[in-house]
Amino acid sequence: MPILSGRMSQLGTESAFEVLARATALQREGRSIINLGIGQPDFATPGHIVEAGRKALADGHHGYTPANGILPLREAVAADLHRRHRVAISPDRVLVVPGGKVTMFFAILMLGEPGADIVYPNPGFPIYESVIRFSGATPVAMPLHESKGFSFDAEEVLSLITPRTRLLIVNSPGNPTGGVAPKSELDRLVEGLARHPEVAILSDEIYGEMIYEGTHASLTTYPELEDRLILLDGWSKTYAMTGWRLGYGVWPKTLFPYAERLAINSHSCVNAAAQYAGIAAMTGPREPAERMMAAFAERRDYIIPALNALPGFSCATPGGAFYAFPNIGETGLGSRTLQSRLLDEAGVATVSGTSFGAFGNGYLRFSYAASLEALKEAVGRIEAWLGSQAAGTRLRASGAPSSRA
Ligand SMILES: Cc1ncc(COP(=O)(O)O)c(C=O)c1O
Repeated sequence: MPILSGRMSQLGTESAFEVLARATALQREGRSIINLGIGQPDFATPGHIVEAGRKALADGHHGYTPANGILPLREAVAADLHRRHRVAISPDRVLVVPGGKVTMFFAILMLGEPGADIVYPNPGFPIYESVIRFSGATPVAMPLHESKGFSFDAEEVLSLITPRTRLLIVNSPGNPTGGVAPKSELDRLVEGLARHPEVAILSDEIYGEMIYEGTHASLTTYPELEDRLILLDGWSKTYAMTGWRLGYGVWPKTLFPYAERLAINSHSCVNAAAQYAGIAAMTGPREPAERMMAAFAERRDYIIPALNALPGFSCATPGGAFYAFPNIGETGLGSRTLQSRLLDEAGVATVSGTSFGAFGNGYLRFSYAASLEALKEAVGRIEAWLGSQAAGTRLRASGAPSSRA
């Protein structure tokens, strides 16, 4: 067995992929599984985007591109950020990468090392904590509060910052909760960050266009952060392009050369055809993305009351993304137990809240990127399963033999 570096033991994973593998294995055995585990839109990439990718291949775009991405794509990103937030961002600060995750990986590797602290949202996207540990830095959990619609509390976050803190990660709208940080909370955070000028901020805004009410408050709109804000965004969610592997970071001028160097050392550049598709996504019609969002809104309006009606479940209404994160404490079952029993016994794939950090204990994540029919069937199955559990408990309590072996 080759001898691994010590840091490999620190690398975590994303349980949604494990749930997907188990769900697929059960389906192969002939079981009917409704997959609400994986976080990706259930829509095909809009036709005009696919066509742009196909045309790029037919036109001979088969070679390397500049490591930072082709200029028209970086210009499209700058124009898109102006459209959305009225900010002027130079295309020179845009680094196109293969997916949103890469900006996170680079930012954490660049700033994390033993002796450094990195503050990250918890419950949050599991890769933050995984890569922080991999970098040798210490992960410091920023709690998200159900009572605040799964936003952070700015004063609490600021109290976690010490001279060791290198990076603060913010994710709004958030995975796994769908929580949105209100503008007032961001204002308080940014005001307090003035006391900590050495701390960089990674703002993961990959769900920034998936907001149900009002507009998205982006950290890019605070000019005082410009020299230390890393923006993570991409095409995966907004344009249903998870498999194209296309994302971008907007980097402070001083950090950009290091991010570009990491790109050259790892992937050289992003698949050329995907970059042309990315231009079509940002400069083409917006109706496909709007239609998708309208479908998510309809599904949210169904699933949140439906989950709240399940015995032992209570679910905050998500302000963005396509995740419901019910509190399942009153079911009397742990998150991981409920995840595996719902999958194995009810045929519904969800992800345990503990997969998103310690503060996810007592919750379950549902990705409602599935048809209304599938959502209704899933809720029906869970309701029936919970009913059978309750009946089993009553039977056992009355001394009758259990129907379960
Ligand atoms: C919060 C968050 N950031 C980043 C990503 C990564 O996106 P991509 O698939 O583009 O790498 C995800 C994907 O699920 C996510 O939920």
